[in-house]
Amino acid sequence: MAETIGIGDSGLGTRDSGLGAGGSGLGARESGFGTGDSGLGASLVSLGNVSRIPLGQGRCYVVGADEIAVFRQRDGRLFATQNRCPHRGGPLSEGVMGGGQVICPLHSHKFDLQEGQGAEPGECLTVFVVEERKGEILLRVDSGRKAC
Ligand code: FES
Repeated sequence: MAETIGIGDSGLGTRDSGLGAGGSGLGARESGFGTGDSGLGASLVSLGNVSRIPLGQGRCYVVGADEIAVFRQRDGRLFATQNRCPHRGGPLSEGVMGGGQVICPLHSHKFDLQEGQGAEPGECLTVFVVEERKGEILLRVDSGRKAC
């Protein structure tokens, strides 16, 4: 199922990206999310419990105006990149991931999740610092850097 999770002033919500079967209907507000009173610092955003992302899959989070894909590799390692593919905007969070790479679901271009480098010349992703702390996904929103 394609799921997009919104993080920000309006609380949590989901929306269908257009490729999947629909949103899961997470509508309830949850406290402690966003950049407000969490005490995490202005650039560190909690994206909620890591169990929201099944091992070997990605999820799209809307943080402010940005769509950020967070991937949870089978070994538990997390990666965060821009969600939209630089080729034609495919939703990378719905791609196939493994071995530190993601394959875009639209035209199968490959990207390295750690560095953001794409296999096609001139294509790369913005990558972000993300970590798990006590089961919570923490994203540093001001850490975005692009490989090309
Ligand atoms: S949109 Fe991603 S490979 Fe074309």
